[in-house]
Amino acid sequence: MKRLLCFLTCAVLGTLTARADKFEGLALTPPMGWNTWNTFAENCSEKLVKETADAMVANGMRDAGYTYIVVDDCWSKKERDPGGNLVADPVKFPSGMKALGDYLHARGFKFGMYNCAGALTCGGYPGGRGHEFQDARYYASCGVDYLKYDWCNHGTANGPETYRIMSDALKAAGRPMIFSLCEWGENQPWLWAAPVGHLWRTTGDIGPSYRGSVKNKWEKGWKDRLDENVGLQSYAGPGHWNDPDMLEVGAKTLTLAESRSHFTLWCMLAAPLIAGNDVRSMTPQVRDILTNKSVIAIDQDKLGHQGFRYRVDKDKEIWVKELSNKEWAVCLLNTGDKPAQLSVTTQELSFLTASYYDTTNVWTGQVDGKQTGAHSALVDSHDVVLFRLKPAS
Ligand code: GLA
Repeated sequence: MKRLLCFLTCAVLGTLTARADKFEGLALTPPMGWNTWNTFAENCSEKLVKETADAMVANGMRDAGYTYIVVDDCWSKKERDPGGNLVADPVKFPSGMKALGDYLHARGFKFGMYNCAGALTCGGYPGGRGHEFQDARYYASCGVDYLKYDWCNHGTANGPETYRIMSDALKAAGRPMIFSLCEWGENQPWLWAAPVGHLWRTTGDIGPSYRGSVKNKWEKGWKDRLDENVGLQSYAGPGHWNDPDMLEVGAKTLTLAESRSHFTLWCMLAAPLIAGNDVRSMTPQVRDILTNKSVIAIDQDKLGHQGFRYRVDKDKEIWVKELSNKEWAVCLLNTGDKPAQLSVTTQELSFLTASYYDTTNVWTGQVDGKQTGAHSALVDSHDVVLFRLKPAS
């Protein structure tokens, strides 16, 4: 009996300890960067990525924190080589992926790549299924720092198990990498993915609209995706983030107000900030949204608390996010079709504990000292006003 007990205990402990968790200490604040997919889809290339990186150095994006440059789907040949290895498309990436990683690292960026947990990627390229450890060694050899892992063509595979295998494979390959799970929230990854990866998609794909789809029918607007993230705030924190999908800021089908409010609300969610627009040709207004340091600071606040929707009035939503040092970000969103005067009083925000707050209107930079009353602004349709409240002495 004693022997049997000992055997069972060892077996259980063995199983537990054989499963090393993800690389710790990465993504202590939400990852920031740029990804090829939202604008360029299958037309990713070495030329595009290099030009984008150069533009991001020149336009201040890198220095504002956008350091992960991620090559999404459609980067490889349609077949693995006879040894089962992934091979970069020689037309799109003539110098190979390692050389691209070197180019990015030399300019202060980190390098991200994409694959999929199924047999094929969503674009029909070789997926990782059955090749996890081999592929992880390949990514490590290319100097990859971030892997986005999709969920198309997974057949009957079990989600948590499948992502766990790739996480173990990355750990075994030995190069610290952020692991970005992209299973669209199908298996409620917020419940199980924190030991496995650093961020997980909570929804299906975002598209370049406020609501509904304008490009592909499976995509939805950022406001739809935002609504789907209500209630998930307790699952996010340093090293493990809800990912409401990449940014559509700068898309031609959004108004400037919609780009600004999309960006602001992603910061309120402590969402990964992965831009997807053509940063080589964006307008100064779009650049100013993406590189606003005070708004980014709300996303990147070290406390790592995801903000939440505090109240919905008719055409007004109030979102709040706790920050370090007892400060708070408060965002009012005008969901109506017309400009409106939106306001909130300190008294309405029942969680506030200080008597007075120095209040900054974050987008305009205007500071009001020792506020006790209403915070108010005229807000365009689908636009926001964002306040930062700091306890005043
Ligand atoms: C899925 C993902 C997208 C993108 C495409 C690539 O739809 O959710 O973010 O990676 O695949 O094919």
